[in-house]
Amino acid sequence: MDNSEIINPALDISLLILPLDLKSVFGNGNDCLLEIGFGDGDFLIENALGSPEKNYIGIEIKKRRFNKAVKRAKRQRVMNVKFIHMDADIAAGEIFRPDSFSTAYINFPDPWPKDRHIKHRIINRGFLKKLSGIMKGGADLEIASDHREYVINALYTMRKINLFESVLPEPGYMLHMPGRTETTYEKEFRAEGREIHYMRFKNMK
Ligand SMILES: C[S@@+](CC[C@H](N)C(=O)[O-])C[C@H]1O[C@@H](n2cnc3c(N)ncnc32)[C@H](O)[C@@H]1O
Repeated sequence: MDNSEIINPALDISLLILPLDLKSVFGNGNDCLLEIGFGDGDFLIENALGSPEKNYIGIEIKKRRFNKAVKRAKRQRVMNVKFIHMDADIAAGEIFRPDSFSTAYINFPDPWPKDRHIKHRIINRGFLKKLSGIMKGGADLEIASDHREYVINALYTMRKINLFESVLPEPGYMLHMPGRTETTYEKEFRAEGREIHYMRFKNMK
């Protein structure tokens, strides 16, 4: 096995037994954190490099972005990150064991602003139910968005489904979250002067 194989950050689930045993995926029993829709993967790579005692998994539906992230992580020889090319809704329902993750991030989910497209939003009852199942009880869910209407809608959905509890005071979001790694979209939106909303929840199961 050459070195590039040992640190291959691309996780081809067609070669593995499902649901995934993350301990054998990473070769250790460290905490696992999940990002949904990781884009170019910079957020995960930076976090993984800064916290080698944690494991990071990302799911991204777009192949080109997935490939870019894999290339970057290989170049930087990141040992504790794995990228999966897949629809996060399917992944949450089918490939992970219950209680797999101590934290999940949904950073700048596609807002699908048109009424007829709202059904495509990842923050919906069905997805959140699956997500809650693969997260540990008491695990953190962080959501960031520049899209105010999406944020209000997400908070409403969260209250209604009663699976995650906001840990922030009313109105349920903050405009700054010190200490957080900025994502690529976040940097762009900030540079454009857009307001960023951060939400944080605990998995109540
Ligand atoms: C607005 S971008 C944000 C990217 C990155 N999180 C960031 O903040 O820089 C949203 C990302 O979510 C991905 N995405 C959308 N729906 C998805 C799904 N169902 N499963 C996995 N990824 C998805 C998109 O391909 C895109 O890369």
